[in-house]
Amino acid sequence: HDNGLALTPQMGWDTWNYYGCDVSEQTLLMAAQAFITYDLPKYGYEYIITDDCWQAPQRNATTGAPVADPTKFPSGMKAVADQIHSLGLKFGVYSSAGKYTCGGHFGSLGYEQIDAQTYAEWGADYLKYDNCYNEGLAGTPRLSYDRYANMSFALNATGRPILYSMCNWGEDGPWNFAPVYLIPARLVRAVTYLTQTIANSWRISGDIYDNYNRYDERCPCTSMIDCKLAGFHCAMTRIIDFAAPVGQKAGVNHWNDLDMLEVGNGGMTYDEYVTHFSMWAVLKSPLVLGNDVTNMTNETLEIITNDAIIAVNQDANGSPAERMWKVPVASGGDLSLWSGSLVNNTFVISLLNTSPETQTVTVNFTDVFIDQGPSYQTGTYAIYDLWQRDSSGAWGKNIGTYTGAIPNVEIGLHQVRIWKAVPATTT
Ligand code: DGJ
Repeated sequence: HDNGLALTPQMGWDTWNYYGCDVSEQTLLMAAQAFITYDLPKYGYEYIITDDCWQAPQRNATTGAPVADPTKFPSGMKAVADQIHSLGLKFGVYSSAGKYTCGGHFGSLGYEQIDAQTYAEWGADYLKYDNCYNEGLAGTPRLSYDRYANMSFALNATGRPILYSMCNWGEDGPWNFAPVYLIPARLVRAVTYLTQTIANSWRISGDIYDNYNRYDERCPCTSMIDCKLAGFHCAMTRIIDFAAPVGQKAGVNHWNDLDMLEVGNGGMTYDEYVTHFSMWAVLKSPLVLGNDVTNMTNETLEIITNDAIIAVNQDANGSPAERMWKVPVASGGDLSLWSGSLVNNTFVISLLNTSPETQTVTVNFTDVFIDQGPSYQTGTYAIYDLWQRDSSGAWGKNIGTYTGAIPNVEIGLHQVRIWKAVPATTT
C-alpha cells in the first residue's frame, strides 16, 4: 500500500493481548513511558496503539464523529496523542469494518470519512481495522474489499500518513468458502487480491493466544474454520503454519500480520518465546508487543531487544523467509527449515523444532539455497548464530565457516536456530 509507510514491518505495542478491554489513557501513557525507560525506540519500536474498547457509548449526536470514553480518556484522544508524540512516539487507534467492534462499541462501517478525518485530527499515525459485525458484507472478495478499501481511501483523503493495519483474520473473500482457502494457491490469490494495494498489513489468522503447542486442546484446528469454532484462537506455532504458504505475497509496505506478540505474557517458556519472536521476525510480520512493558523480566527484555533478530525483520529487502521443508516427527510436531534473502547478498536460515524431543539435523545448502541455484548451494559461508552473543556481547556469534551444509545440529525441543549466512570471499 503506497502511502509511504511500513517500508519495513511496523513495530510497536498494542493494548489487547495484555489489557483486553481495560484500556485508558493511563495504560497508553504508562506504556509510552516504559518505551522511553527501556529505550525501546532505539530498537525500532514506535507505535503505541489502543485496541478495542476506547469508545464512548455513542458517537457525537450532532456530527456523528467518534468520541472516546470520557471516563477512560478524560483528557480526550487528542491530548493522549499529543503526549505520546511529545515522547517521540507514534499513536495508533482501532476500529472495525463493521457496525460494531468485536467488543460491541460503535464500528466504522458507513462512517469511514468522518472517522478517518477525526483520527487524523487527533493525530493518529496508525489504524488497526477489525472485522466484527460486518453486516454480512463478507463472503465475497468484492464485499470485503469494499469495506476495507473504503477506509483505505478515507485515510488517504485526510492527507495525514496513517499506517493501515487490516485485521481481517485471513478469512475474507474466497476464504469464506470453507475448504477453498485450504488450497495454498487460493490462499495466495486471496491475500494478494484483497490487500496488497489497500493496506500496509493484513492478518492471516484468528487471534493468537499465549500458547505454543499446535496440539493444545484449545486449538485442535487444522484450518481457519476449525480455529474459529474452537474460539477463534490459534496457538503460536499454528500461525507459523498459516504463514508458510503466503510468505512471498508480502513485501515492502504490505506485510503478513501474524498477530501481536505474546512474549512476556507467561504462557510459553523462554525457548518458545524465542521461537515466537524469531519466526515473526523472519516472516516479516509486524512486531507489535502485547505484554506489560511497564513490568518486564530481564529475559523478556532480552528477547524483544535482540537487535540482530530485529535487523532481519527490518531488512530493507523486505523478503519473508520461505519454508524449504517440513518433516513430521513420530512423537508429535515437526522439524522445518526456512530461508530468506537479506540485503548485501546475505541470508537468514531458520531451523525450527516443534517436536517434544531433541533432534539432530544436518542443514544442507542444497535446501537452503533452492532459489539461488547451484553456485550458492556449493558455496562457503560464515555462519552467525543470532541467539548467541559474540565476545563483545553483541548478538550474532560466528560459529564457523561451512561449505555445503551445517552438519549435525543439535536442537532441543521447542527450540529454533536463527543463523545469518554471509558468503565467504574467495581469493
Ligand atoms: C479481534 C482481533 O483479531 C483482536 O486482535 C482484537 O483486536 C479484538 N478483536 C478486539 O475486540
